Amino acid sequence: MRSLIDILELSVEEIDELIATAEDIIANPAKYQEVCRHKKLATLFFEPSTRTRMSFEAAMYELGGNVISMASASSSSASKGESVADTAKVISCYADIIAMRHPKEGAPLVASMNASIPVINAGDGGHNHPTQTLADLLTIWRKKGKFDGLTIGFCGDLKFGRTVHSLIAAMARYTGIRFILISPDELKLPSYIKKDILEKQGIEYLQTTDLESVMPELDILYMTRVQQERFFNEEDYLRLRDSYILTPEKLENAKKDLCILHPLPRVNEISVGVDADPRACYFEQVLNGKYMRMALILKLLEVKA
Ligand code: NCD
Repeated sequence: MRSLIDILELSVEEIDELIATAEDIIANPAKYQEVCRHKKLATLFFEPSTRTRMSFEAAMYELGGNVISMASASSSSASKGESVADTAKVISCYADIIAMRHPKEGAPLVASMNASIPVINAGDGGHNHPTQTLADLLTIWRKKGKFDGLTIGFCGDLKFGRTVHSLIAAMARYTGIRFILISPDELKLPSYIKKDILEKQGIEYLQTTDLESVMPELDILYMTRVQQERFFNEEDYLRLRDSYILTPEKLENAKKDLCILHPLPRVNEISVGVDADPRACYFEQVLNGKYMRMALILKLLEVKA
């Protein structure tokens, strides 16, 4: 039995297989609509979420399965002091698979060590978010037809943005990748990621505070929201939140086939004027997230269509 806590638990071959399954689901949805009949997904979200939770739920329903979930973290037994380990043991009695989001880094890992069913990390604090990475990877694949040789710009909150951390880890395994890390000084990529992933693997990267000067080089631009909930003080958040706002004017020097991604929710970092640009891929990315979660559920439940 396998869980998914960190994207690196999936080999590049397994990522390819998940993409192939997602492509098949897109092409032949009817083939999949009953495959998880009588299976239950439990969504345990101890942090706010719209798309990740609903995406998991939609994924399970589209596979013919069912979903059980807590109404909210404050109405669950966690508010009475139940440990993550106990919650995982209890939910294992009710469901076949768990998707868990938690504000504490490592909580889904603890859950997976105590559950008797697969646990999927749906975001743990400022750490990781592997299923968002699956959505990102399918979008990049569908737009570019390759992962090798891409220059990827990450812009915004690279310190607390867990989607950035997971996507960097995943993309660093391909050849000829270049990362351009665009953030205010206070929100730079954590040094453990630079050391353990980028420097260890000899991957080329550039850090800058200036988005416009690097725009012409980018194949992918991954915009992120400044993660308000991880700030210790409101003043810092207010000062940094509008550091980068992507507008149609700023895209004038960008490549014609640039792919603009954002895990959403968007606050101010992409003006709505950009949405009509064919290079804006963030709503397709949402849809791709559902297909990749379907593929992942099938894999972890060992269900074949
Ligand atoms: C992201 C997250 O939760 O980390 N959202 C998501 O799952 N699509 C990004 C964010 O909240 O900024």
